[in-house]
Amino acid sequence: MALVGDALPSFPWDSLTGARQRAAAHPGGIVDLSVGTPVDPTPRVVRDALVAAADSPGYPTTQGTDRLRESVIGWFARRRGVPGLTPDQVLPTIGSKELVALLPALLGLGEGDVVVHPQIAYPTYDVGARLAGAEPFAADATTAVGPGRVRLMWLNSPSNPTGRVLGVEHLRKVVEWARARGVVVASDECYAELGWAEPWASEGVPSLLDPRVCGDSHDGLLVLYSVSKQSNLAGYRAAFAAGDPALVGRLLEVRKHAGMMMPAPVQAALAAALDDDEHVAAQRERYRARRELLLGACEDAGLTVDPASEAGLYLWATLAGQDADCRAIVAALAERGILVAPGEFYGPAGARHVRIALTASDERVAAAAERLAAGPLTV
Ligand SMILES: Cc1ncc(COP(=O)(O)O)c(C=O)c1O
Repeated sequence: MALVGDALPSFPWDSLTGARQRAAAHPGGIVDLSVGTPVDPTPRVVRDALVAAADSPGYPTTQGTDRLRESVIGWFARRRGVPGLTPDQVLPTIGSKELVALLPALLGLGEGDVVVHPQIAYPTYDVGARLAGAEPFAADATTAVGPGRVRLMWLNSPSNPTGRVLGVEHLRKVVEWARARGVVVASDECYAELGWAEPWASEGVPSLLDPRVCGDSHDGLLVLYSVSKQSNLAGYRAAFAAGDPALVGRLLEVRKHAGMMMPAPVQAALAAALDDDEHVAAQRERYRARRELLLGACEDAGLTVDPASEAGLYLWATLAGQDADCRAIVAALAERGILVAPGEFYGPAGARHVRIALTASDERVAAAAERLAAGPLTV
C-alpha cells in the first residue's frame, strides 16, 4: 500500500546534522540562524490572556469566538488597509503551516490539478500540492505558468526566504489573471509587519485583500496570516485565514468534520495579540537592530545580501565573486560556529544562496557578527 508520505521529499533540515555538529564545536558555541523560530519572550499581554482563559471545559468552536473574529477584522482594517471584513470571512487555523500543507486537499484538488507557488519558496507549498495528489509548479510570473489545469496559486509576500515584497500593481495583475481563469489565489503574508525598506516600512506591505488590489470583492482570494513571528508565540500555534466568504465557508465545513479547531485559550491569546500593536512594534525594533548588525557583518565576510531582502526575518545572501554552491557556504559558516540554511531548501533557483535568520538572541547575533567580521569567507 502506498502511504501519502511516499510522495514527499525527505525533511530538508535533517540534512544539516553535519554542519550543525561542526558549528557546535566552535569554542564560543553555535549561533543557530538556520530556522525562523522566535527566541524572545511571549509578551505579557498575550500570556495573561491565555491564563485567564485556562478554565475551558467545553469544546471550542471551529470558526472562532466572536471576540477573536472581531480582533482579526480590526487588525486587517488598522494594520493592513483592508476595511470592512465580516465575521464569515475569517477562520482561525492551528498555526498557518497546517493550512499551507492542507489547503489543496481541503479545496478538493487532486490528480491533474496544478498548484503554482513561487520559484524560490517555503517548501510547504510544494508539500501541500503533493499531499493532495496535485502537481506543484514553481513560477513567479503568470506568463510562466504552463498549459496545465491551474486551480490554486500561492503568493508569499514578504517572501520567505528572499524578503521580496509584491507591490499593489503586481498583486492586482495576479488577481485579474486568476479571476479570468477561476484560479484561487492564496497569499501567505506572515511577515507583513516586518517591512524594512521603503515604501514598505512607512506605508506597510500590501495585502492581497487590499481594495487597491482586488476592488470591492474578495471572490477567489484567501490570505493566510500567522502571529508566530511578530508576537513570539510560535509555540501556541495561532494563525488565521481570511477572504472569500464562500471559500472560508467551505474550509470551515471540512474543518468542523475533521475537528481542526484552535484551542479556546489560544483563541483568547490570539485576540489579545492582535489587539495590541505595542508589543509588535517593540519586536520589530529588536529585529531591526539584529538585521542591521548582521547586514554589516555579512559584508565584512564577503557575503552579498540580495537587494530583494526588503522585509521579513531573513537575509538571502551569496558569496560574491566565488560562484559558491550553497552547501559550501553553509560549511564555511559552520567553521565559524554559525549555522544557516542552504538556499536549495527553497528550490533549485536557490542553489547559490544561503538563508540567514534574524531569530537569535542579541547576545548570539552579536557573537555571529563578531565571527563574520573576522574577514572574508573562503570556500
Ligand atoms: C512563509 C511561511 N508561511 C507559514 C509559516 C508557518 O508559520 P506558523 O505555522 O508558525 O504559523 C512560516 C514559518 O516559518 C513561513 O515562513
